[in-house]
Amino acid sequence: MNAHQSLAIGQPIERFEAISPAADEPEAMVRFAGISKTYPAYRGKPGVSALQNIDFAIPRGSITGVIGRSGAGKSSLVRLINGLEKPTTGRVIVDGRDISALAGRELRLAQRSIGMIFQHFNLLSSRTAADNIALPLEIAGWTKADIKARVTELLALVGIADKHDRYPSELSGGQKQRVGIARALATRPSVLLSDEATSALDPQTTRAILDLLANINRELGVTIVLITHEMSVVRQLARDVVVLDAGHVVESGHVADIFTHPKHPITQSFLAEVIGDSLPVSLASRIVAAPSAGGQAVIRLQVRGAGAGDTLVARLARELGLDVSLLSARIDEIGGQQVGSLVLGIPLGIPGEDAVTRTLAFLSQHQFPAEHLGYVA
Ligand SMILES: Nc1ncnc2c1ncn2[C@@H]1O[C@H](COP(=O)(O)OP(=O)(O)OP(=O)(O)O)[C@@H](O)[C@H]1O
Ligand SMILES: [Mg+2]
Repeated sequence: MNAHQSLAIGQPIERFEAISPAADEPEAMVRFAGISKTYPAYRGKPGVSALQNIDFAIPRGSITGVIGRSGAGKSSLVRLINGLEKPTTGRVIVDGRDISALAGRELRLAQRSIGMIFQHFNLLSSRTAADNIALPLEIAGWTKADIKARVTELLALVGIADKHDRYPSELSGGQKQRVGIARALATRPSVLLSDEATSALDPQTTRAILDLLANINRELGVTIVLITHEMSVVRQLARDVVVLDAGHVVESGHVADIFTHPKHPITQSFLAEVIGDSLPVSLASRIVAAPSAGGQAVIRLQVRGAGAGDTLVARLARELGLDVSLLSARIDEIGGQQVGSLVLGIPLGIPGEDAVTRTLAFLSQHQFPAEHLGYVA
């Protein structure tokens, strides 16, 4: 299995007892094996079961999105990867080592190969950009000269060579996150964990930071685990996605598959948020709730591949005898695959509403997620 196959994601591990430190699965950078996490009761507050039955692998060199609502367990999951939290049951294998079994100096050494970036950047306000980036190198015992050279290199890598002597209060949010990324990469980690790293940024800055992360993945080969509650972030950057809900993995796989065939209601609601804004304004403004004589019903759906839209329209015409028109078609690159967002017009002649029901039944039968948006005159 190569890095482009991630069949392991979401599939239960059959024999996780058999995983040795020199994992027999070199393509998995992170593997969760039989993981649950329960925070103990504390000062009269009851215990919290944050994660249950977590079994999946994150392929080496991939960008994997972990998406879920607030409280789903996303941060708990990343804190298990870098050993900040211990699992209640199971093991977390990172780069062939069981990080959940390490403590003390061994754990600190292992943590150097796992970088992390945060929503609120977590920079020290009393240190310049350069000195923030230098911090992990100081802790790792690098010499002054080596630190100086490495920090210069990192500032250039993240595109803020001119901010060397700036304090966090003198930097924009995007620049602060660039410092955070440089600091996370300082000790040349093999994994970069991002916990809502763009949630405090505007859309344009988010895009720039996600582009930077894509470059880092491509050029340095760093495996990236992207925690987010925004499907647009997953869609822009990730190839694989894991959907968490109430501490469970409810769906996982290639992003393009999940976008075209979401199965779980939570996934569908995340998708509705990103797909919801994909209608051309000229069309959206014409859609009304009630049908009119001679008008069309409007149905939106997602398809895999650039040519799939035309094929589908032809099949609807042939198999249902409907003169379907393509009101709008948009092709996006999602998870490295082309995904089309189509809006179809279904003629409302006789038998009227029945054409809509038949079209939706046909699409559902062929597993195209579709929704009836309304009508146009
Ligand atoms: N240190 C802790 N002690 C006790 N309970 C915790 C702790 N950390 C998290 N929890 C609880 O575990 C559950 C999962 O929390 P977690 O922070 O992992 O969710 P999340 O998906 O990251 O949410 P958000 O999107 O709001 O950041 C929640 O019910 C939370 O209250
Ligand atoms: Mg969180």
